[in-house]
This record gives sequence, structure tokens and C-alpha cells, in this order.
Amino acid sequence: MESKLKITGGVPLNGTIEAQGAKNAALPVMAAALLLKDGTLRLSRVPDLLDITTMADLLRSLGATVTYHEHGMDIAVPEQISWETPPDLVRKMRASSLVLGPLLARCGRVVMPLPGGCSIGSRPIDLHLKGLARMGASIELVHGSVHATTKGLKGSRIYLDFPSVGATENLIMAAVYAKGETVLENTAREPEILNLMEILRSMGASIEADGTGVVRVQGVQELHDGVSAIIPDRIEACTYILAGAATNGEVTVRGVVPAHIDSLLAKLEEAGASLTIGQDAVTIHPSGRLKGVSLKTLPYPGFPTDLQPQIMALLSMAEGASIIQESVFQSRFLHVSELNKMGAKIDIQGNSSIITGVGELAGADVAATDLRAGAALVIAGLAAKGNTCVRNTGHIRRGYENMVGKLRSLGATIEAVEDEGDDGDSERREKSGLPRHTS
Ligand code: EPZ
Repeated sequence: MESKLKITGGVPLNGTIEAQGAKNAALPVMAAALLLKDGTLRLSRVPDLLDITTMADLLRSLGATVTYHEHGMDIAVPEQISWETPPDLVRKMRASSLVLGPLLARCGRVVMPLPGGCSIGSRPIDLHLKGLARMGASIELVHGSVHATTKGLKGSRIYLDFPSVGATENLIMAAVYAKGETVLENTAREPEILNLMEILRSMGASIEADGTGVVRVQGVQELHDGVSAIIPDRIEACTYILAGAATNGEVTVRGVVPAHIDSLLAKLEEAGASLTIGQDAVTIHPSGRLKGVSLKTLPYPGFPTDLQPQIMALLSMAEGASIIQESVFQSRFLHVSELNKMGAKIDIQGNSSIITGVGELAGADVAATDLRAGAALVIAGLAAKGNTCVRNTGHIRRGYENMVGKLRSLGATIEAVEDEGDDGDSERREKSGLPRHTS
């Protein structure tokens, strides 16, 4: 049953919360465990999220054993595993495509349905496949599935047309067992990729990265057991910092790496926010109404596209105008119409949104279209006058561990209720004598 969030806005958030482990680090690292041939990867600080459960189910379907322990998990991978991924699981989550590289490198073949697009764009995996082909894989698309085989991947020089996060991760994992040296150029440089490389090195992989987008991998024969920690989730942490700013509260997020969120902190200071930045914690202080600012989303270390909806919610209430340019995804503005239902004044022009700040948002019934759009609507609801109902919050549970609990601990009035799909239709049906629900 889908659930919805009921929020009563206008309450400044106050308090301290702990950042979860990074979803976008844990997912590739879990996929990397498949490179083990009869070994175990022990991970700590793995977030408790729907996407993590989906990835664990996918690993189990291939023959791995995944057991949870306090704030972490053990992934045991036997000598023999399957290379055929179950369509139902792959279609649930795009990040399933991260098993392509490990399975091909380890089994010499993989069959996987092409991941679907989603509300933020078509999201192809052409760069992943092009790189694997460069390493000697033969790849066929058969009825919407990728059939890839190789007699043994070979080290190659691969230039990525776009610094794709997933393609970078897949190709690094594939290169771990390739014969000879692989040089990847124009790679993504997100902190989650550094975490993946650290963990692969701890398992015996030979990987060098100089932070300039060049990664060199020397192929090895085998990896050994690993014990590692997932880095903090910079996107989740910033979501709560933005919620603090939007409600004019005082929120501290602990267990973060401030250097990973420089772009957001700089943008908030430019808008007039007051911040305290510590070793592993950031505090946003009551900063009153911020000034409009402009930004363009870019691959790391640029402003992250995964914070674009959330900062848009904040800037919709700023003094003056803001322009947000989305350069990473084709169409990541489905949250605009929902924010406008709450009184925001946002106009989409191509891949930019023009925001005219308003003094106040008004609570409304809105729907999440993806994970970060959902988070943006929660931020708007926390700041708005009156009550807001955010539907389709399954998206939110995919990436935010215990959001309701964390927000309540900061003083928010928020509750999760079952959504019987009542879109106000039942009253109309009742009045017209129709039964409330028909099958
Ligand atoms: C990762 O997705 C993240 N997901 C996304 O986070 C994030 O938004 C994205 O990187 C960008 O930072 C995970 O790490 C699990 P990309 P990914 O490949 O790897 C195009 C969230 O909310 N592209 O860097 O799929 C693509 O269409 C999620 O946590 C190709 O054209 O992102 C997109 O426009 C949402 N061909 C752009 O590149 C390819 O082969 C960036 O995609 C691959 C990508």
C-alpha cells in the first residue's frame, strides 16, 4: 500500500541528527562484492533503504548470501554464481545495472534487461556498454535485454563522452579482472566513486586515481575478503540542512564530510545563510529570508543534480529571483508544477527554471515524482503555512532512512499515513450515490 506524508508547516526545525550511510556508495559497493570468488565483504554504515533491500535481493538471486548485522551487512559470494539477472528486480531499480561490470568480469557473461527510464530522463547505459565493448566484450541487445559475453576482458584506454557515475563504476569494476592496464579518462569524480575504489583496493584490486578524472586499473586474478565502511550520505545530509534553512531553524547534521558538500554550503552562504562548519558536522543557523541565487547543476565537484529539487524549494521563498539550470538530466523539473501548487512562482524555460521568490508557500496536496522531488516537497511542506500532504512517498523511502523519525526529532509535525488512493474522489462518489471503491 502506498503511503503519504501529512505535514503541518511553519515550525522552525531545531536539533541534531546523524547522516546515514551514502545510498549511492553502498549500491556500487554491494555490486562489487560479486567480484569475490568464494569470499565475504563486511560493510558498516549501510543505510536501511528500499534500494539497498532491492540490491540485496538481486545479489541473493545471483547466489550470494546477504546477512544484516548492527548498522551493516555481510555479503558472502560463493565460487559459482548466476550471471542471469531477474527482470522483475532489475526493472525496480536503475542501479541494478551496476552488476553488469562485475558479472562480466567474473563470469565472462551477463544477461540483464535494459534498465527503464524514469521521471528524470531516459537514462540510457550506452556509455557503460561502449566501454565494456572496448574491453573486448561482445554485446547484443535481444528483446530489450543486454546479452554480453567475453573470453576475458582486456585492459584498454577508454574515454567517457560524459563523466557518467554509473559508467565509471561499472568500468572500474570490470577492469579489476581485465588482462593488463585499463586507463579510464573523463571519469566521474563523485566521493562515492572514491569510496568504491578504496574498498576495491582493500580487497586487493590495483587502482590509481589522481582526482583529475583519470583512473588506472591493473588487472588482478582474484580479490580477497574485505571489511569496510560506507561514507556519509552527502545528499541526505544537505537535504536536512536545506530543511533547516527553509524553516528558519537551527539544524546540525553530524557524521558528514564537509568537503563533500562545499558547493551547497557556498551557495547557501551566497544566499545569506549563516553556517557553522566543523570537522564532521555542519550547522545551519536561523538566517531569515534568503536572497535569490542562481546555479547550474554539474558533475562533482559542481553543484549536485540530486540537490536541485531541494534547493529549488528553498529558493521559491527567497527574496528576489533565482535561475536553476539542470545540465545533468534531460528533464528533472517534474517537481516544479507541484511546488507551484503550493504558491511558488516557477517558470520552466528549456533546461532552466526561473524562480520568482514569494514570501510564503501554502500547504497543498502534492505528489512525489522521484526520490529528490519528494524530498523537495517535504521541505516545502515544512516551511509552508498550513497542511501539506505528499503522496507517492515510496520514492522517498528508497533513499531516506527514517525521514519521519529524523524530522520529528527536529520538532516537525509530520506523520506517515496509508494512502487508500483517496484523491478526494470518494466524497464525490458518495454524494453521487456511487460505492466508495469499485474493483
Ligand atoms: C547516479 O546515477 C546516481 N545514482 C544518481 O542519483 C545521480 O543523480 C547521478 O549519478 C548523477 O550524479 C546512483 O549512484 C545509484 P549518470 P547514474 O550515469 O549513474 C546520461 C539519486 O537520486 N548517461 O552520471 O545513472 C544520463 O542519462 C539518483 O540518488 C548517458 O547518456 O547517472 C544522465 O543524463 C538519481 N549514457 C547523465 O548521463 C550512459 O551510458 C548522468 O547520468 C550513462 C549516463
